[in-house]
Amino acid sequence: MTKIFITRLIPSSGLNLIKEHFQPDVWSHDLPPTRVQLLESVRGVDGLLCLLTEKVDAELMDAAGSQLKVISSMSVGVDHIDVSAATERRIPVGNTPGVLTDATADQAFALMLSAARRIPEAERYVRAGKWITWSPSLLLGADLAGATLGIVGFGRIGQAIAKRAQGFELRVVYYSPNAKPVFGAQPVDLNTLLKESDFVSINVPLKDETRHLVNENFLSKMKPTAILINTARGGVLDQNALYNALKSKQISYAALDVTDPEPLPMNSPLLELENCIIVPHLGSASKKTRDQMSVLAAQNLIAGLNGDILPNCVNSDVY
Ligand code: GLV
Repeated sequence: MTKIFITRLIPSSGLNLIKEHFQPDVWSHDLPPTRVQLLESVRGVDGLLCLLTEKVDAELMDAAGSQLKVISSMSVGVDHIDVSAATERRIPVGNTPGVLTDATADQAFALMLSAARRIPEAERYVRAGKWITWSPSLLLGADLAGATLGIVGFGRIGQAIAKRAQGFELRVVYYSPNAKPVFGAQPVDLNTLLKESDFVSINVPLKDETRHLVNENFLSKMKPTAILINTARGGVLDQNALYNALKSKQISYAALDVTDPEPLPMNSPLLELENCIIVPHLGSASKKTRDQMSVLAAQNLIAGLNGDILPNCVNSDVY
């Protein structure tokens, strides 16, 4: 019998598709399996459906065994998977691109507006009973209209942010070697982007080349009034450097959907800052998007188990 391990309860749209063909073993606890539990649970499986919370490395693939035919992640990012190790073992790796583009671009915009208009600070102010009167100078923020948005990484999500930015009358520049200009956005080099942008949105995948791309040097080139938005991966940003830049007001504000590590430890100094918004990795967190992601993940898993080419494969050199 084909053995499948699914590392968490995924939406029924995807799970039912899998159940039409197979009888998967589903980890149905709220917390992900520990490393030890994961190594134990994958033993002898033909297919693995994981989330971004699981580190899928060579050790895990070997613990599963040489019969492992497919690794399908219910995520677009695959930085939690050692794709080279999978390729060496001729295991196709699937991801879920496209369906979460709009939700993630919406989240970037939600964070941009929240930071610009200081919404979480304002909410804390009301709940603390500090709202005594309307004041001409209370909790003043920044305008979007007429400001410049710099998008670092102009792939699907970066472009969807640029599309939304047109409606908000933002000027958009981007840094992304080889990406074609769309939605009125203008390609520039990174130094120009950092020098000119009032908002900087990070939209690159986490790779060796992008780890700590946002470091002390990067932050020192931003405007003191600038707002940084990260909906990509926490590892793209050096959090100590960000803390120093926010604390010293070298930049004005940051809004993070992602951190390193996740969850962010409660003793992180970033949590002491008024000018930093942090939410728990919710870029794709809409009902419809998560349903669609589960369907794509299920389709990749089923294709891999049947020996077919995965509809969304990140290492198609295995074929
Ligand atoms: C979310 O961050 C994803 O990669 O799908």
